[in-house]
Amino acid sequence: MGCATKIFGFIVLIVVFILGQGQPSLGKSPSTVPSGFKAKTFYRDYSQLSPTHDHFNAMINHSINRLNYFNNALTEEPISLTHWGTSDYIIELDIGKPPKTYHLNIDTGSHLTWIQHKGCSTCIDKNKQAASYDDKNSTTSIELSCYDVECDEDGSIECDDDSGKCTYKAYYADGSNSTGLLYLDTFTFLSTDESDVVELEGVRLGGAFDCTQGAFHHDIQGVFGLSRNRRSFISQNGFLRFSHCIPSYKGMAEGPPVVRSNMMFGTAALLLGNSTAMTPHLHFYIVTLNGISVRGMRLWLDPSIFRMPNGRGRTIVDTGTPLTYIPEEAFNEVVETLEYLIKLQRVIYSGSPALCFKGNLKDVDQHVPEITLHFEGLDLPIIPRSLFYASADKVNICLAIRPMKDRDQYSIFGALLQQNVNIAFDMEEDRIFMSPMTCASII
Ligand SMILES: *[C@@H]1O[C@H](CO)[C@@H](O)[C@H](O)[C@H]1NC(C)=O
Ligand SMILES: *[C@@H]1O[C@H](CO)[C@@H](O)[C@H](O)[C@H]1NC(C)=O
Ligand SMILES: *[C@@H]1O[C@H](CO)[C@@H](O)[C@H](O)[C@H]1NC(C)=O
Ligand SMILES: *[C@@H]1O[C@H](CO)[C@@H](O)[C@H](O)[C@H]1NC(C)=O
Repeated sequence: MGCATKIFGFIVLIVVFILGQGQPSLGKSPSTVPSGFKAKTFYRDYSQLSPTHDHFNAMINHSINRLNYFNNALTEEPISLTHWGTSDYIIELDIGKPPKTYHLNIDTGSHLTWIQHKGCSTCIDKNKQAASYDDKNSTTSIELSCYDVECDEDGSIECDDDSGKCTYKAYYADGSNSTGLLYLDTFTFLSTDESDVVELEGVRLGGAFDCTQGAFHHDIQGVFGLSRNRRSFISQNGFLRFSHCIPSYKGMAEGPPVVRSNMMFGTAALLLGNSTAMTPHLHFYIVTLNGISVRGMRLWLDPSIFRMPNGRGRTIVDTGTPLTYIPEEAFNEVVETLEYLIKLQRVIYSGSPALCFKGNLKDVDQHVPEITLHFEGLDLPIIPRSLFYASADKVNICLAIRPMKDRDQYSIFGALLQQNVNIAFDMEEDRIFMSPMTCASII
């Protein structure tokens, strides 16, 4: 029993091109590996959907939770929190056969991809059963048993001895969680020029039967795990390059609440600009910062403050943390320089290190200087609109950079500063490419 399943386990991914009309007829060839493909991403701003919620403080709380999470995660299978409390960076994925479209939070800090399953008892949104994953509705869905190779037990994946089924448990930084069964199913993507459909068969995903209610926004159906971990979508499917670009955060701006871009996989990944080496790590994308410039002037900072005691980099590139965290010494220097250069009225929030001024978006354009992050071998200018965000009442603007605590090992290059920066992850060469770009132009 089960042995056959194990032997014929779905180790090898069969990848099939479905050719679009008018394409040369190569026929279906299981040995053809698609070199690149893409999926739509967008940025949902909840402050416009539910203006009464305190998005401002939720975002700060969420950033702190996440910073603490990274600094407390010891070794085994860390799974982190994805939701922003204020907005979500979302990918649109077609899963199953026939394909059904799901909206999942993008998380470069966790490895497991899961979707609310039909019939779940505690769900992201119990009223949205029709939007849920139903393995019975997909002809390519396979429920994993304990005997399957894919059920490689670790901290988050384990065998349920009573049922013989393969289960997962995902714990997030704010104490929320998701649990359920593991499946293999087909993920369908678009080719780079959108003329073809690219199918990946046997991709592992969790079907959630329980998850913490209220922890995930009811607009999404689950989480897309993109960490560096060997179990995440990227490593599992052998596409060792991907790139993405976070469109403008609209929380403080006028204009449409949804801005679209694309996530590019494999050879479609946009490896643009200069690159910086990734520090070896099992789960996270970590780079080395050497210094910071404000309006082209390099701040006098000892480069060693941005490094671990062993000399390695300590800055995690994370889509899931809105704010950016840097060593306190560097933060104080940045604040002092900006206070001097920005001719706006300073606003103090008691008990908060936030650098805030009275003002709006137009004031940001007029008064805020560009800041450059000097990574090892890569200088990245951050435009003023990515540096500041609006307070809840929209009368103040605050710097999206905060000081880390003395005891913190890891600092974070967060999502607000990543707006309109194309970021490519190359796991073959262990490098990250970063380059300023209008993300909405990646179509
Ligand atoms: C943020 O955290 C503080 C302190 O834990 C709490 O009092 C407050 O309610 C939280 N705010 C939001 C919007 O989550
Ligand atoms: C399953 O398929 C049936 C028939 O096509 C459809 O009515 C139902 O909505 C589907 N359920 C889910 C959860 O996809
Ligand atoms: C998940 O979180 C909920 C709510 O906090 C809790 O009641 C439940 O016990 C947790 N589940 C697991 C498996 O830890
Ligand atoms: C890459 O770095 C070099 C050296 O700092 C610089 O001259 C060049 O302009 C950079 N290229 C890009 C595309 O940023």
